[in-house]
Formats: sequence, structure tokens, C-alpha cells
Amino acid sequence: MDKFVIRGGEPLLGTVRVSGAKNAALPCMAAALLTDQPVILENIPQVRDIQTTRNLLAAMGAEVELGYGRAQHRTTIHCATLAAPEASYELVKTMRASTLVLGPLVARCGHARVSLPGGCAIGARPIDLHIKGLERLGTKITQEHGYVEASTDRLKGAEIVFDKITVTGTEDLLMAATLADGETILQNCAREPEVADLADLLNKMGAKITGAGTPTIRVKGVSKLRGAKHRIIPDRIEAGTYIIAGAMTGGDLNIAGCDPSHLNALLSKLHEVGVKTKSSADSVRVMGDNPFTAADMSTEEHPGFPTDCQAQFMALATQAEGTSIITENIFENRFMHAQELVRMGANIKIEGRRAVVRGKTPLSAAAVLASDLRASASLVLAALVADGETIIDRVYHIDRGYEHIEEKLKGVGAQIRRIGEMFPKKAAAVK
Ligand code: EPZ
Repeated sequence: MDKFVIRGGEPLLGTVRVSGAKNAALPCMAAALLTDQPVILENIPQVRDIQTTRNLLAAMGAEVELGYGRAQHRTTIHCATLAAPEASYELVKTMRASTLVLGPLVARCGHARVSLPGGCAIGARPIDLHIKGLERLGTKITQEHGYVEASTDRLKGAEIVFDKITVTGTEDLLMAATLADGETILQNCAREPEVADLADLLNKMGAKITGAGTPTIRVKGVSKLRGAKHRIIPDRIEAGTYIIAGAMTGGDLNIAGCDPSHLNALLSKLHEVGVKTKSSADSVRVMGDNPFTAADMSTEEHPGFPTDCQAQFMALATQAEGTSIITENIFENRFMHAQELVRMGANIKIEGRRAVVRGKTPLSAAAVLASDLRASASLVLAALVADGETIIDRVYHIDRGYEHIEEKLKGVGAQIRRIGEMFPKKAAAVK
């Protein structure tokens, strides 16, 4: 398993370019299941979850071209026929977002067999709201042997109120509703920019969606959808991660190709901490090594502070004077990074959904373990300011959602390199 070796102490100087948003690309790729025409998506990030989705769609019978040629980052997905409308446990267990194929498969094929995702490091992550919504649209659903079996003669529009705000739940039901008979009204929807980006694609495909990005989305069902070409929005979480990296290292870093309007809650909290930034239409510049002061933060659904930047904010909080109380309201177990930060010298106490961070504490290099995608990012940030050389193991977590992170960081002065097994396992003794 690959590791990162990072020597801390270098201020990040220069420009990093943000890639396309993984969490917009995944539902947009699933949307290609809704039509027998080709769908072309540009600005696709070169990350593992995209490859996993490609494999998932190909296993169903889709033709998927995925090219990262010169600044191409494009995929063409053609689901002319779908021989096997199912998502196996082998694939779903590696990426929970595979459940995004459930709604499109039921809408396109009238049936689907999708493995239940099972838990993951950050929480139980059930899909009961996806299932309840599909049943409201007229789908018969059974669950056995760890799989969801869904079938319908024809989806019928309905009024659906989500008990909880769910991002992929909103996306799953939005896709299913595009081919339902009549109008569907989805209420208490997720308002993340990725939901609006998916709706943009679906409307280019001929869907009739209004209200995406607000709590209430209306969908007038149509009989068929066509192919389309769409450019994925920039990744706001990747952008936020690099903004915090520039702040923590006291550098002067320009985060280019992002959409600052997706980052309001994060930027406002960083300003409260004392981070200086300047935004243009498509970039954020973070400057200077001014001292940071502690600030409390609670994760909320968009447009609140994103849970996907909570771990990164915690790393920053260890470098702020005073006590920061961080409350994780979205997931029940999203503090795995805390203990690893403590091993690097941070002072963090976990009390249920709250983490109490007392700073400023100098961080020292250590051998640490990545546990999930955003926890890994938090450890990279800490390593960039730690004294000495930090080794981060299991960086395959970070490869799921950050395109070429070591190249991007090296390009702005970070001392980071990727290595294979530190001590290759001895070949099994020949008996
Ligand atoms: C999406 O996950 C993102 N993934 C996550 O990003 C992100 O952390 C999360 O939204 C919250 O913003 C993708 O978009 C691919 P939810 P999702 O459904 O949709 C509960 C990353 O780091 N819930 O909004 O799975 C759930 O347990 C990933 O890129 C139910 O109870 O999250 C959680 O407590 C990690 N029943 C809360 O709702 C359901 O049917 C929010 O989950 C669905 C969700």
C-alpha cells in the first residue's frame, strides 16, 4: 500500500488548479443510465471513485470511454442496452456512492439489484430514505442477502418529503423522477452545488426540473431522455483543502479554477480564525502567516459548513490560539483523524459529537494512518506544518478523491513524495 512521506515547514507559494468535483461527477455518470444515447462529461477528476464508477457501469453493459489526455479529462458513457442492471457487493463495498445507480436503473429498466452499501468508516450510512422515496414513486422493493431488489411497471410522480436531508438520496430520486409518469415534488432536498450540477445535466438531456439547489425540487416526468454534453463543476472540497493548506503553511497560494460562491461558509469561518483571503470570479488567494485565533464550528448541510472540510478545519484549529469546539452534525463517527493528530502533538478531546481542540500546539512528525478520504487530507495538512518527516500510510483513501495531490503540492513547494511498501513483505518461505 502506498505511503506519503512529507517533510513539514515549507510555505506553499504559487498556484494550484482545482479539478472537477468528484461528488458531481459520480451522479452525472449514473445519469447516463437514463438514456440509450451517449453522454459526454468533461472536467472529470482522475480519482479512484471515477474508475470504480466506470467499472460499475461497464459491468452493466455500458460502453465507457474515460480519457485523461492533454487537459481532456473526459468520459463518454453510452448505455445503449443494459444487460445486467445490477451493482455487485464487490463494487458497492468499495464505494457507497454506487447506490446512485438505483434510481436510474429502476427508471430506465423497471428493475434493479443493488448491494446494500454496508457501513463505512464515518458512519452507518443507511439508504432507507432512497428506498422510501422510490416506493413513493411506485417501486416494489425487497431486501435480501444484502441486496436491494427493486421493480416497477412504471414510475408514477409523487410528493416526497425527505425525513432527513440526504445528498445522494436527493440525487437518486431526482434521476428516477425524470422518467416517472406525471409530476414529482421533492421536499427537504439537499441544496449542495453538486445537486444543481446534476439537474443541469438532466435538463440538457431533456428532463424538466426546476428548483434544484433549493429545498423544493419539481420534476415533470418525460418519456425519454437524450444524450448531452456537460462540464462538471469544480471541486469545492478540494479547493477548501488547499485554502487551509495555504493558510496553515503561512504561504501565498492561489487556488485557481474554483467557484468561490460554493465556499461562503468555509471562507467566513476561516476569516473568523484570522485567515486572510482574496476571491476573484474563479479563484481564491490565501495569504500570509498571521496568527490564528480559535473559533467554534458546526457542520451543517449546504450552505452551512461542509462536513467534508471538518477534518481539514480541525488540523487548522490545532494551530489556532485558544479552544475551538468542533461539532459534527452530519455523521456519527467522523473524528478518526483526531487521534492521529494527537499522536502528532495536537491537544484534542472527543466528547460524542464534539471535538474540543486546544491550540496552538506545535506538531511533530509521526507515522500515521489514513482512515477515510477527508481524514487523510487532514493528516497531509498537519504533516505540512509538522517538525520532521511524517509518514502517512494507506493513502489509497486520499486517491479516491484528490487528483494528483502530491504533484499539486510539490508544484507549490511542499516536500512530499509517494513511496510503495516501506519494507516489502518477505516472499513467503518456499516450503
Ligand atoms: C454525500 O454522501 C457525499 N458523497 C459525502 O461526501 C458527504 O459527506 C455527504 O453527502 C454529506 O454532505 C457523495 O456525494 C458521493 P447523506 P451521502 O445521504 O449522500 C443519513 C466525501 O468525502 N442518511 O447526505 O451518502 C446519513 O447517515 C463523501 O466526498 C440516512 O439516514 O450523505 C448521514 O447521517 C463522504 N438515510 C446524513 O443522512 C439515508 O437514506 C447525511 O447523509 C441517507 C442518508
